[in-house]
Order: sequence, then C-alpha cells, then structure tokens
Amino acid sequence: MIKQMHVTGFMIYCPAPHMIMSWVYPREKIRHQWTDVEYWVEIAQTLERGKMDMFFFADGWGGGTNDASVRYAIQFPASDPVSLVPYLAAVTKKLGLAVTMSTTFYPPFMLARKLATLDHITKGRIGWNIVTSVSRGEARNFGMDDMPPHDERYDRADEYMEVVNKLWESWDDDALLMDMENGIFADPAKVHKIDHAGQYYNVQGPLTVTPSPQRKPYIFQAGASERGRDFAARHAECVFAVANNTQQMRSFCDDIATRAEKYGRDPGQIKIIWGAQPLVAHSHSEALARQQEIRARIPIEASLALLGGHLNYNLNTLDIDLPIADLNLKITGIQGMLEAAVKVDPNVTLRKMASTYLSGSDNGPMIGTAKQVADHMVYLMEEGGGDGFQITPSYYGPDYFADLNQMLIPELQRRGVFRTEYNGTTLRDYMNEDAPVRAAE
Ligand SMILES: Cc1cc2nc3c(=O)[nH]c(=O)nc-3n(C[C@H](O)[C@H](O)[C@H](O)COP(=O)(O)O)c2cc1C
Repeated sequence: MIKQMHVTGFMIYCPAPHMIMSWVYPREKIRHQWTDVEYWVEIAQTLERGKMDMFFFADGWGGGTNDASVRYAIQFPASDPVSLVPYLAAVTKKLGLAVTMSTTFYPPFMLARKLATLDHITKGRIGWNIVTSVSRGEARNFGMDDMPPHDERYDRADEYMEVVNKLWESWDDDALLMDMENGIFADPAKVHKIDHAGQYYNVQGPLTVTPSPQRKPYIFQAGASERGRDFAARHAECVFAVANNTQQMRSFCDDIATRAEKYGRDPGQIKIIWGAQPLVAHSHSEALARQQEIRARIPIEASLALLGGHLNYNLNTLDIDLPIADLNLKITGIQGMLEAAVKVDPNVTLRKMASTYLSGSDNGPMIGTAKQVADHMVYLMEEGGGDGFQITPSYYGPDYFADLNQMLIPELQRRGVFRTEYNGTTLRDYMNEDAPVRAAE
C-alpha cells in the first residue's frame, strides 16, 4: 500500500513566518498585505485547492523588544490566529485549521472552551498545537518575571492535559436531548462536574460547551527535548519536528515510538510531520537563483535575532565565529534544536547556524524542479520515516502556495503519494488517512 503523505501549510499571523525578510516582494505583484484578511483567505483557499491537510498557525506571545526584531519584522508583529479561524472556516469547506496555544498563558478552562467552540464553528476542522512557550519576553507580558523552569513547564502541561481532557469528556454522548415535546434540554445526570484539584490547577467544570464534532481538537505538539518528546509521546496525535538529515529523522521516529509504547500507546497512531521549505521552479537553475536572491536580503543581525528569540538567549554579546560547543550556552528556550545542530557538525558556529537557520538554505535537494523536490520528499519519507511535511513559504504566501499547487502537488499526486480528494470531513479524518484518496475519474 502506498502511504499517504500529509502536506500542510505552515504560517504565523505575521509579515514573514520563518523565512525572514520574505515580506520583501515586488510591490506590483502584491495583491494583499498580510494585515488584510484577504491575504489569509487567499492562502487558505489555495491550500484547500491543493487538497492539503490543513492551514497551521505557529504563534508566540511576545517580541519587539530588540531593535533587530522590529527593524526586520522577526516574527513580530504577530496578530492572534485564534481570532482569524472563524473567518477562514467560513470561506473554506474542507481544510483543517490548526492553532498554537500555550499551556503557560491560557488557563485550561478558557482554552478548552475556546477550542470546543471553534470545533463547532469549523464543523470539526480544528487542531491545537500544544506549546509550553519559551521566552522571558512572553512571560513578562503575562505578569511573570520569567518562564517557569523547562521541566516544570512540562509537569504543568501534563496536568493541564488531564484537565482539558476531563472537560472535553464532561458531557456524555447522549446528554444533549433537545426534547422539545417535554421541554428537556439536557439530562443533568449526564453532564458532569470534573472537580479537578491538582498541584497546579483547580477546575470544577463541566465544560460550558456541548460536545463538538471532534469532541476534542486534533492534538499537535512540537518539543524536541527529552521532556518534550515524552510529553508528545503521551499526548500528541501528531508531532511537528525538524531534523537535519535522514538519520536524525529515523532516530526521532524510533524514539517517539519507544516512548509511546512506554505509555501504552500504539506508535502507529502518532504521526510525525517535518518542517520543510521547498522552493520549486520550472528549472533547477531558476530555483537556485531565486534562493540566492531571497538569502541575499537577510542581514546576519536579523538571523541572529530569530535564532536568539527561539533559544531565549541574547546572542549579541557572543563571538559568533567560535564553535557553539565552546560557548557553554545555558539555553532555556528550544534546547533540542541547538543540540541537533551541534550533533551534525561539532564545529558549527553561531554565524553558520544563524545564517542557515530555518531559511531553507541547507535544504539543497528541496530546491529545484517539482520532479526533483517530489523525489526528495518521497526519499525522506522512505529513508527517514514520518508522515509528511509542514511547508512554510519562502516568499509571498499566496503566490508561494499557488506555485506549489501548480508544480509540486500534481507531481506528488502522479506518484500516488498524495490525495486528489479529501476523504471525510474532520481534520482528524484527514490526518488518520493512511492511503491517498483518488478523486473519481
Ligand atoms: C518544530 C518546532 C515548532 C515549534 N513551534 C512553536 C510555536 O509555534 N510557538 C511556541 O511558543 N513554541 C513553539 N515551539 C516550542 C515548543 O513547543 C517548546 O515549548 C519548546 O521547544 C521547548 O521545549 P523543548 O525544550 O522540549 O524543545 C516549537 C518547537 C519546535 C521544535
């Protein structure tokens, strides 16, 4: 059986998601600014035409505290994607819509209620990317001096999951009666308080929202550290990961599988999707030229601001030409990424890491013709494992995804690894689809 490759559109509700400076684009070709809702509608409808699984929004709750991030728009400013979802749900029919929400900043009852409401509004197309958040700047927007320590964030998040799951289960399937003849709306014996009293949270319940089409959102998680992987293996339906090569991919998949078994879960039930930034053009040389043009406009100061933000570390005072291993950094942000980079190249410097970080420049085979890129994606899945790719644009979003629809998606469909039609109605339906569905000829 040919395996379904899951392909998703990854964005942040900001001027440039991961490819910094991608907000710079020829003015005459821009149809909508990122501040216009039409920009997001065009992307959503393009992803849906491409039969992609979902539109995924990463998010953060801070930024703008250093000059470089403001000057170059390094994941700042960022509006609230949760507010955008109902609008996108109204202009699409099938596309999944996933948002990132932090267990550190949203009280669990508020999150459970919002996502249950959004699951109703989207008719079962909502997903939640669980993050514990990383930066001091975010903590300071919520009245804290700093983030709770790394592992404690995950301890809290474990209890948080217990609470939200209890809330989403607080109505029995047959609790809602809407019995108009007898005037009974719901059976009180089947709507339960949860009375959660834990180490970090006290929540009475029941949830004030009726059971939604998926009952709970489709659950994503992205955390690369030991503790983060454990959390994913326990709670996630899909893990969003980054890897530098097929060995790292394979060992990540094996590791998640081993941890899942430890928690009594079937590893086959946990999908893994990889961050990717393909750049597809009609010829290899055209794609390379485009890539060079895109990279040439990124100042090193901007790359360091992005990397420093994710590591929660001010890199400005460091010698960026020394091997990272010699700097003895005590990272409180995304630890796993730094560890992975040093593992691949023990002499890697901050300059090298920053200038290639998330900008796609190391993804040589991901840059080329649709045929070359599709071959590489299939190769990565076969050799490295996992279930698909989270694709993030390297230039103006609506055009980038339209180019993928025109060139890459048909190439994947021709190989039989990607659907030509949606099967089912919910995001969970699409993500659990193991074999590609073909539209009737
Ligand atoms: C691929 C990837 C994507 C992530 N996306 C987000 C995000 O959108 N928002 C956020 O606050 N944190 C994000 N994170 C951070 C994680 O959710 C987590 O809080 C952080 O990585 C610290 O945990 P770790 O040390 O286990 O990696 C991401 C992490 C990874 C590895």
